[in-house]
Amino acid sequence: MDQQTDRDASLREVMSSYPTGVTIVAAREGEGEPFGLTVNSFTSLSLDPPLVLLCIGHSSASHDRLIASKAFSVSLLAGDQGAIADRFATDPSEGRFHELDWAAGLLGAPLIGGAMAWLECSRHEVLAGGDHSILIGRVEHSVVTGRNALVYQRGRLSSLGG
Ligand SMILES: Cc1cc2nc3c(=O)[nH]c(=O)nc-3n(C[C@H](O)[C@H](O)[C@H](O)COP(=O)(O)O)c2cc1C
Repeated sequence: MDQQTDRDASLREVMSSYPTGVTIVAAREGEGEPFGLTVNSFTSLSLDPPLVLLCIGHSSASHDRLIASKAFSVSLLAGDQGAIADRFATDPSEGRFHELDWAAGLLGAPLIGGAMAWLECSRHEVLAGGDHSILIGRVEHSVVTGRNALVYQRGRLSSLGG
């Protein structure tokens, strides 16, 4: 332990120093406008069955619609997609898909062009988790590319691997 630099910190501060990938979690009701938000609480949960989880804050405008969606997508952003991560983390929620390269996946949820990988999930379960809901999805389709990942640490976005 380094007595020079160690200090107490909030959970928020500790977690912000922990690097994560960055995703856009999105859904669409029928032929309506797609909606989604930037999410870094995404992780794999189970391989058999194939499950992933992510956490959505109660204060998020997308919360109710997202946890009610039968299907949702996870676009795992590529290193050059920092502007998309910013756009989907900034108000207003409406119009985030405007003039964006996206296409409906096999389950109807929007997949963002240029991402490093995509998952399409059916809703498996929603659990309570303090001021967030834990959304568990069953992976129905998955695609990966060779692109580098976008990484978030200490409030900054950067590309992993250059
Ligand atoms: C890198 C990054 C990661 C984020 N991860 C999450 C997350 O895991 N869950 C969440 O609810 N909000 C997360 N947010 C915040 C939401 O993206 C942000 O509050 C967004 O405006 C919510 O959109 P909405 O109000 O349209 O739902 C994250 C923001 C950033 C910049």
